[in-house]
Amino acid sequence: MANITIALSKGRIFEDTAPFLKAAGIVAQDDPDTSRKLIIATNNPKVRLIMVRASDVPTYVQYGAADLGVAGKDVMLEHGGMGLYQPLDLQIARCRMMVAVPEDFDYESAVFQGARLRVATKYLKTARDHFADKGMHVDLIKLYGSMELAPLVGLADAIVDLVSSGNTLKANQLKAVEEIMTISARLIINQAALKLKREAIQPLLEAFKTAIKTV
Ligand code: PRP
Repeated sequence: MANITIALSKGRIFEDTAPFLKAAGIVAQDDPDTSRKLIIATNNPKVRLIMVRASDVPTYVQYGAADLGVAGKDVMLEHGGMGLYQPLDLQIARCRMMVAVPEDFDYESAVFQGARLRVATKYLKTARDHFADKGMHVDLIKLYGSMELAPLVGLADAIVDLVSSGNTLKANQLKAVEEIMTISARLIINQAALKLKREAIQPLLEAFKTAIKTV
């Protein structure tokens, strides 16, 4: 069997992918949340995990530095998915991509009046497409995290961000006003690796597919 490298990110993606790996007989030998290791061995000497930033997962897989990976739909839309096969929505790490504004901001009226809003986000492509579809002119400001702060200090009128429990919005006196899409994580595979290492990858793919119904 060929050697296989799987790219994951710390936190929810790693935790929610673990049962899928287990279904394929793969168990990580270290916990990335406690270990500082970026390459994690598994019980299978031919399979290793690499821990990267969530937004870097598709890049590692695109260039073949990893054969497979697990990445959110949010990340895939920003990346574009070039060179990647996306066979499975694993239905994990679920959340929603939302537009949010300060609690006292009348978003509906602003939209109705055609106001040109400043929107802070990490998700430029998704936000651009969303507002273009609505026929709204917005000025997008690229941020790399903590988007909720932007409207509180006058950097932006609104944000486009992921919402899960809604606690972060609430803690910062913001409200969600529009859902752009639901988000979940998917399995991604390097297209060349799928051809060259099909014997090793296909059983993994099958095990993951079966596990979607049970995990
Ligand atoms: C995400 C997202 C929100 C928060 C939403 O950030 O950007 O800030 O989670 O979750 P909630 O609705 O359950 O409060 P994350 O903690 O992943 O960090 P990030 O800013 O690096 O994306």
